[in-house]
Amino acid sequence: MYSDDQRLNIQVCEDEEKISQFLILRWQEISREAILKRGFFAAALSGGKTPVFFYRRLAQAGKSFSWDRIHLFLADERWVDFTHPDSTYRMLQETLLRKIPIPDGHVHPIPVNTPSPYESAKLYEEELVRFFRLSPGQFPCFDLILLGIGQDGHTASLFPSGSALSDQALASPVILNDKRHDRVTLTLPVINNASDIIFLVTGEDKAPVLRRIIEERDRSLPAVWVYPDRGNLLFLIDRGAGAQLHRHGRT
Ligand code: 6PG
Repeated sequence: MYSDDQRLNIQVCEDEEKISQFLILRWQEISREAILKRGFFAAALSGGKTPVFFYRRLAQAGKSFSWDRIHLFLADERWVDFTHPDSTYRMLQETLLRKIPIPDGHVHPIPVNTPSPYESAKLYEEELVRFFRLSPGQFPCFDLILLGIGQDGHTASLFPSGSALSDQALASPVILNDKRHDRVTLTLPVINNASDIIFLVTGEDKAPVLRRIIEERDRSLPAVWVYPDRGNLLFLIDRGAGAQLHRHGRT
């Protein structure tokens, strides 16, 4: 099981405030180390509701961070205009980006002004190749990827049984064929090449899926396939999300 693995940690916090404090400290540690090592810190951020409180706290706490050494990417995006209420980039602008002194060229949104999600994925891949100076066949190494988990076990925009799950490209289009927006997502080889991956999961409605991921390792759930090749994996959760975990939930 994951829980016996040295590189996997589960941190249960009392509430969103404690989660934010923990994550801001971790952000500082990881970024300091990355900047010392390679001169910059590259993180990929997720959308959804869960991380909103953290982005707001990061904006407050991060006034003095070295934003000129920090590059922010997205783990996934809905293929909608940046002005759309469901755009992750829009959410990030409102909660974080407009409140911090990060240079314009250091924010790398997934382009959506394209004929289809296929072109978006292609353009994002080109951006990753350019930024990380990748040779063919190489994958970018993010210092940190922050992910959420849906009740169906999806993470980023890797959905159960979706073709993106086995895509070996850097970014993949996700065509949902229903009323949901199409999306673009980083792929598993990119996610698993990160130095640190943190799943941020809160609320009792996520308790069943978290148990299936951490304790049952149910392979039908995309989040189970997230496991860094060399880096660290942390589940940063509240008591509600951990309620069905034998070792970490309520007793
Ligand atoms: C998104 C995500 C997605 C999200 C989960 C959890 O932009 O929607 O990247 O993977 O993290 O769906 O979403 P909630 O935080 O809203 O529960």
